[in-house]
Order: sequence, then C-alpha cells, then structure tokens
Amino acid sequence: MTKIPLPSLAVALDTPTVDEALAIAAEIAPFVDVFKVGLELLWSEGPASVEVVAGLGRPVFADAKLDDIPRTVYAAARNLARHPVGMFTVHTSGGRDMCTAAREGAEEGASGAGLPRPLVIGVTVLTSHDRATLVATGVDRAVAEVVRCRTELALESGLDGIVCAPTDLPVVSGLAGDLVRVVPGIRPAEARVGGDDQSRASTPEVALDSGADVLVVGRPVLQAPDPGAAAEAIASRVISRREDAG
Ligand code: C5P
Repeated sequence: MTKIPLPSLAVALDTPTVDEALAIAAEIAPFVDVFKVGLELLWSEGPASVEVVAGLGRPVFADAKLDDIPRTVYAAARNLARHPVGMFTVHTSGGRDMCTAAREGAEEGASGAGLPRPLVIGVTVLTSHDRATLVATGVDRAVAEVVRCRTELALESGLDGIVCAPTDLPVVSGLAGDLVRVVPGIRPAEARVGGDDQSRASTPEVALDSGADVLVVGRPVLQAPDPGAAAEAIASRVISRREDAG
C-alpha cells in the first residue's frame, strides 16, 4: 500500500495541459508532498498525464471520482491501478458494493502491475455543496448527517480514507478511525481566489487543528502571483504539524 507522509500538502494540478502542469510543478515541487491529477487533466491527456506527473517523484493523487455500477467501477479501478497512482477517489454516494468493488479492483490492478496498491479514498459530500445542493438532488438532510453516513459507509467498505470539507472534520472526528482525511476547500487568509465555488472552506491552520491529514490546494497556489511562495507558506504550516506529531 502506498505510504504518504501525514499531514501532507497535495497541490491540484488543475491545468488544461500536462505541459502547463509541469511548468507550475517545477515552481512548487520542493514544497509539495503529493501532486493531484484531476478530471481536467485526465480528460485532456488521459492516463499519460498520471505517468508524466509521477515522473516528478511524488505520489500521484488521481482524483478520478469514480461512480458507476460496481462491475464498471471494479474494472476502472483495476485499470487505473496499473498506473503509478498513490491514491484515487470514488464517490461514496455510489454505495457500499461499488466502494468495495473499487478497493478490489485497485488490489487486482496494482498487484498485476507489480505496484503498491493505491489508497482508495471516498468522497463524502463535495466541498462546493451545501444543504440546498443536497436538497436539489433529492437528499433532504443536513450536510453533517450525510457526511457522517458516508464516512460510516467508507469504513464498512474497507476504504482507506475520505474526502470531506474542513468544516466537516469535527463531524467525522471519533468516527473516521484510521481513515485518512483528505481535505480540499483550503483557503489561506492571504489567498484571493476569483469566482470561488467552494462553500465550506477554511484556512490551513483550522483544517490542521481539526484533524486534516492531506490538505488539497488548487487555486490559492495556481492563481497566486508567486505560486512557489504560496506553496511554501502552506507547506511550512503542514511541516510544523508533522514535526509536532512525529
Ligand atoms: O482550487 P481549489 O483549491 O478549490 O481546488 C480543490 C481541488 O480539490 C479541485 O481539484 C477539486 O476538484 C478537488 N476536490 C474538491 N472537493 C472534493 C473533492 C475534490 O474541491 N470534495
């Protein structure tokens, strides 16, 4: 199984092309523990984007957000795990059988390719969602209740971690056990993000205090006037927590 230092900083390489991802990665690499390849890159250059980013020497977080019938997710997870992926995501809303299938597919693909098994991380409720978004999709429950329910489902399905908003961390503490807590929606006090769609965001300090294991940061680094300095500032907070923990 892939080992990732905790807590850690993952930067989302949300760029139109791999060349642009590599250009920004060159500026920030010394401060980054994990590079995240999300749907934007995966759907511009496919699995090749994972291979190229893995060449930077950090674990790759393939934010694939799988969600389909169990057999299809099994096959997708198996194919994904044949690439050098440190962790990948599935939507826990896809249900227990689907999450279990993702885990089994990851084992099969990685062992066939002679690679460590990627961590399988279940998205609970997207950080951009609030109660109104849930209600509009037929889920008439508070965000906290849905996060709690889907965290239990991740545990029961044998997943390695969850994705939740920083504001959800108090809800999952005491419930998530050893699940790795992957936390997007990070907004440093000094960051200015244009047209922000994250509705449940917090600063890195609050997220770390609340138990975040992997901080996922995109635009506060990518849109910063000096991405290297922005990544370094967040990394210094993460590293000081890691040293306190160690
Ligand atoms: O730019 P920003 O810091 O908002 O980027 C957050 C990243 O985390 C994006 O790549 C987004 O796809 C991802 N993400 C998220 N919420 C989740 C899961 C992943 O924002 N629940």
